[in-house]
Amino acid sequence: MKKYKIALLDGDAIGPECMREAVKVLKAVEARNDNIEFDLVHADFGASAYFKVGNAFPDETRKICDEADAVLKGPVGLSYEETQKIPVDMQPERGAILPLRKHLDTYANLRPVSLPKSLSHFSPLKAEIVGNGIDILIIRELVGGLYFGDKEVGVNDDGLRYVRETLEYDEKQISQIIHFAFKQAMQRKKVLHNIHKSNVLKSSVLWNEIVAEIAPLYPEVEVKQQLVDSAATLLCLDPGQFDVMVMENMFGDILSDQGGGILGSLGLMPSACLGDNKAYYEPSHGSAPDIAGKNIANPYSMIGSVAMMLEHSFGMLEESKNIWKAIQSVYAQGYSTPDLSKPGSGVKMINTDAFGDLVVDELNKL
Ligand code: IPM
Ligand code: MG
Repeated sequence: MKKYKIALLDGDAIGPECMREAVKVLKAVEARNDNIEFDLVHADFGASAYFKVGNAFPDETRKICDEADAVLKGPVGLSYEETQKIPVDMQPERGAILPLRKHLDTYANLRPVSLPKSLSHFSPLKAEIVGNGIDILIIRELVGGLYFGDKEVGVNDDGLRYVRETLEYDEKQISQIIHFAFKQAMQRKKVLHNIHKSNVLKSSVLWNEIVAEIAPLYPEVEVKQQLVDSAATLLCLDPGQFDVMVMENMFGDILSDQGGGILGSLGLMPSACLGDNKAYYEPSHGSAPDIAGKNIANPYSMIGSVAMMLEHSFGMLEESKNIWKAIQSVYAQGYSTPDLSKPGSGVKMINTDAFGDLVVDELNKL
């Protein structure tokens, strides 16, 4: 019997309703596998935690995450107005997500931008561009760069308010994510797009130097250089040219949202945040306060994050694939949540909980 302890951080707004569906799937996996037991422990995190205990990432939650074999996290954050009720440094993005990433040292963020051929109609791009589907893996450095550099806010000698944020990487931070990306490329098409801005940023110059030093260790992988701004254009014009893309933190934040855009919904963006010792899994999307509690959020990213957890943390490759297959068959029957049910799309619109139920039904047929 294998026992895995999973910390569940429901998060804010649509977080709990998406988490409920993820838990259904975890329970279904447990029921199908006699030798597996999941110990699911919910812990407070995000704005809800701040309002409950005065801390967006409470010590108790930190402890639960430390003791867990993996962490599953829902989106956090509230509307702009509600966020203003929380001190800036305790707002859940700064007060919870970034400290979680740093604490677990999950430097490698895997964000698959993936749409099988059969679902390519979800993409807003023309069939001649994405008719064969989309299959890109964005690898985002997650614990360095502008997000974590020193910050200074003040008034300068001219009496003007100013702000300074620093983008810092050392060679160890860069080389660990680059090695990670090469290894992923080796498992896929052996093409690695290195995304940078070396025509302007010194950080990209060092980044590229390190890519060049590491590349000979992976002679089978072809490295392609791409400036980040032009990568944004090419993701729309010809996403098929990309397979594995690696980039620093901020570039990865932006391009991965664009990834959700070319899929047709940010609701289709699960992710894995991996470190050498710890891992956590989360949808790449936000907490969508405008639709919270309406049972209309798309739980795909949350359920997909469970599939990624089974693969990367528990080595349950078959069950992970089965979850993907189950999701695919729900879509194949024409069902989807409203984010993908555009007028005229012919989709059979269903709610968050019905989507989760159907995924479990399909899973149990496999
Ligand atoms: C993401 C999110 C976060 C980020 C926010 C919520 C802090 O946008 O995971 O992409 O910027 O990393
Ligand atoms: Mg983002």
